[in-house]
Amino acid sequence: MTAPLLTGRALVTGGTSGIGLAFAKALAARGCDLVLVARDEDRLKRTADELHQRYGVDVEVLAADLADRAQVDAVTARLADHDSPVEVFVNNAGKGVHSRLVTDDTSEHEHAIDLMITAVVVLGAAAARSMRERGHGVIVNVSSVAGLITMGGYSAVKSFVRTYSESLSLELAGTGVQVTALLPGWVRTEFHERAGIRTGSIPSSLWLDADRVVADCLADVEKGRVRSVPSARFKVLAWLAEHAPRAAVRKVTARLVSGRR
Ligand SMILES: NC(=O)c1ccc[n+]([C@@H]2O[C@H](COP(=O)([O-])OP(=O)(O)OC[C@H]3O[C@@H](n4cnc5c(N)ncnc54)[C@H](OP(=O)(O)O)[C@@H]3O)[C@@H](O)[C@H]2O)c1
Repeated sequence: MTAPLLTGRALVTGGTSGIGLAFAKALAARGCDLVLVARDEDRLKRTADELHQRYGVDVEVLAADLADRAQVDAVTARLADHDSPVEVFVNNAGKGVHSRLVTDDTSEHEHAIDLMITAVVVLGAAAARSMRERGHGVIVNVSSVAGLITMGGYSAVKSFVRTYSESLSLELAGTGVQVTALLPGWVRTEFHERAGIRTGSIPSSLWLDADRVVADCLADVEKGRVRSVPSARFKVLAWLAEHAPRAAVRKVTARLVSGRR
């Protein structure tokens, strides 16, 4: 008999805010114990206490800066712990990238690549190794609809996450390990404010709620979908971004970018 998905212990990176916190809540509501990873130790402890009190699940915290390879390795070790296995891994921690590509200082791009590509690949491999050995598990990688268009370094990074996830799902086919890439549109979280991105030009009808995004994503995971694009509006926009001529996609993206600078 196939074991049910979305049970056991879930490790969520960036589990203290926005989409990651929404994953933590939704998985705790299903009875999953949690391991939360983020940098801010006080916020991790506060979030863990709240989730434990509200859902009665065990919540471990692991303070780590996932842009730092040595700290990523501490999370790798947690994913490899056979005595306390992680059955659901949500590779979510990330940030906005507001810097131009033509710049004297590429450090913001390098940091984004460390956090949203290197850590995603290193942790994804660690989770996949352990889950494959057990013949069971779920990996959710948080990409973005922005990865289908051409909004600078951020789009490039999230495009990587989407392709990587689809490739990982192929490599893990038949092992019992399910991989889903989540491609959200605009979600109300701390993301844009933290990155200093102006959002005034985004119509309010296009904003999504993090809890709704996560509910849709988990429903897609349970259906075995490799890609999850929550909301009908963003399903249409994602389809257009993938099927329209690239020149048209670049033109629309240029307009979007000019409204945000
Ligand atoms: N919001 C959107 O519109 C949107 C749309 C599409 C995709 N996404 C993606 O969704 C994911 C979550 O974003 P969000 O909107 O929920 O943002 P958020 O509200 O700013 O939350 C980011 C989370 O990641 C953690 N984090 C950030 N940098 C980290 C680092 N270096 N090491 C470890 N943890 C780190 C933060 O905690 P600490 O600060 O304590 O580390 C926080 O828990 C990201 O991958 C983002 O690219 C967001």
